Amino acid sequence: MRQKLVVGNWKMNGSRAANATLLNGILEGLQDAKAAAAVCVPAPYLHQCQDLLTGTALAWGGQDVSCQQPGAYTGEVCASMLQDFGCRYVIIGHSERRAYHGEANDLVARKVQSALDAGLTPIVCVGETLAQREAGQTMDVVGAQLDAVLAQVGPDAVHKLVVAYEPVWAIGTGKTATPAMAQEVHAALREKLRVCNAEAAENVLVLYGGSMKPDNAADLMAQPDIDGGLIGGAALKAADFLAIIRAAQ
Ligand code: G3P
Repeated sequence: MRQKLVVGNWKMNGSRAANATLLNGILEGLQDAKAAAAVCVPAPYLHQCQDLLTGTALAWGGQDVSCQQPGAYTGEVCASMLQDFGCRYVIIGHSERRAYHGEANDLVARKVQSALDAGLTPIVCVGETLAQREAGQTMDVVGAQLDAVLAQVGPDAVHKLVVAYEPVWAIGTGKTATPAMAQEVHAALREKLRVCNAEAAENVLVLYGGSMKPDNAADLMAQPDIDGGLIGGAALKAADFLAIIRAAQ
């Protein structure tokens, strides 16, 4: 039985004052939660998370990481820095990074390797656009995205991955994949993980992301291969984020 995981992706939102209110609100309601929970915040706020969340049940992480070691890479944040600020997780290959920063599968794979080398848990995002879904390419696209990572890290690291299926057309749009649509892709992703490492695949968490809200979270997470959520908009309100965590049994 896999323990569910609910991760808030704050994207480029927050201020020190708003973060403190949000994090304290989440902490107040987190007792007795059965699911694990984390927030992935903009890099400048990692220090604030470390201050407020150390010793609590709420983990934290980054939203991106460099594939490079420390050095002359202006503007980048490397994995050892995330680790230095107590991160457990880092989101890698989010569709917004793929779309706005040209991140291709091979770069995503190298970033995942950097995260693993620093002892971080990468949350590897995969997902198809609406045009790709309508062209019947969903499995090819998400399969290639995951394959690139598996080819890089190899079978022995499969158990260290978290995968997030985020259909691009469902992100921030209010359109959610139905539980059945999402389950179909999640099952296919787990099958790919099995081919790489059958035993490890059973324990890998495959999260769903894309307009997951308090009112649809339970149905999505009741699917056998949906092990939690990667939450955007609804992670910015403590009550909504907590409701999703509670929906994860
Ligand atoms: O990474 C989370 C995400 O992209 C989903 O965003 O706002 O649709 O929940 P949202």
